[in-house]
Amino acid sequence: MPGAIYAEGLVKTFGDVRALDGVDLDVPEGTVLGLLGPNGAGKTTAVRVLTTLLRPDRGKALVAGVDVLRHPNEVRRSIGLSGQFAAVDEYLTGRENLRMVGRLYQMGGREAKARASELLERFRLTDAADRVAKTYSGGMRRRLDLAAALVVSPPVMFMDEPTTGLDPRNRQALWEVIQELVAGGTTLLLTTQYLEEADHLAHDICVIDHGRVIARGTSDQLKARTGGERVEVVVHERADIPVAEEVLRGFGKGEISVRRHTREVTVPVVGGAKLLAEVIRELDARGVEIDDIGLRRPTLDDVFISLTGHGAEGDGAESDGAEEEVK
Ligand SMILES: Nc1ncnc2c1ncn2[C@@H]1O[C@H](COP(=O)(O)OP(=O)(O)OP(=O)(O)O)[C@@H](O)[C@H]1O
Ligand SMILES: [Mg+2]
Repeated sequence: MPGAIYAEGLVKTFGDVRALDGVDLDVPEGTVLGLLGPNGAGKTTAVRVLTTLLRPDRGKALVAGVDVLRHPNEVRRSIGLSGQFAAVDEYLTGRENLRMVGRLYQMGGREAKARASELLERFRLTDAADRVAKTYSGGMRRRLDLAAALVVSPPVMFMDEPTTGLDPRNRQALWEVIQELVAGGTTLLLTTQYLEEADHLAHDICVIDHGRVIARGTSDQLKARTGGERVEVVVHERADIPVAEEVLRGFGKGEISVRRHTREVTVPVVGGAKLLAEVIRELDARGVEIDDIGLRRPTLDDVFISLTGHGAEGDGAESDGAEEEVK
């Protein structure tokens, strides 16, 4: 049985650009898929295909079990979309925008009014609710657009970079709303460039670059392939770096990295907290004074860099394009 969002071999070209180059997706009902990738990776193109806004050159897609290419109108009835670019009506107030969406979705007048007030409250727009959206700041408009996407809770939702441009408090508020939606059974495909966000919200993560899936798995699975834990030591004196390197080499299971300006020496290890205590004793015995020491798991940023050869913000080196299934 395909999941609530399913795609097979999606290809979409724009002139010379292969925006999608054979993308497969399968998102089980009631889960969140984080579609992660740098600028131009193909995230928005994938969302546009899955939400019936763009026809792919090749491939197949089903949303809520319905063929996106054959029955787009039926698909539209079971999805919600919050786009990368806001779709609010500038000449209506925030409140009017939300009530209008409710009415479009056949809510009764009283229900639409109540839902609008609730969402304005949640996204901290109550004070600005009765001003026309034209006067809103960028972040306020973004929040209004998200609120509009949440007026009704369709079984399948797509959110394209929902938190780009939001301050930390509003990002947190949105995360909470998303978690409630999903607890209620909604299936969500979320695109993001924030690795932390995918880490926090997504059951599964799919990393795309140059229109291809280059890795997929849970956040833990993706992190595990970057080589597990590292010991990170910050020495007090720059002159102690070589000794610290020597000590860490004795405990490490991989290449040592040194950042001289921050006096930081890092090495991948196996053995956890017990090993950390031994490292501290050994450094102490060698007379090395330490400012900080810790065990740290690789972040999704480390994973992204190791997969693509560049950071999530960068657009540097080419990836080899081979997908690596992590199970
Ligand atoms: N309508 C279009 N016409 C021409 N090229 C397009 C069009 N839409 C997308 N592209 C190209 O397809 C590629 C993928 O674009 P897409 O918008 O899907 O990337 P993205 O992953 O959403 O990036 P971002 O993080 O910047 O939003 C890019 O190279 C982009 O320039
Ligand atoms: Mg995009």
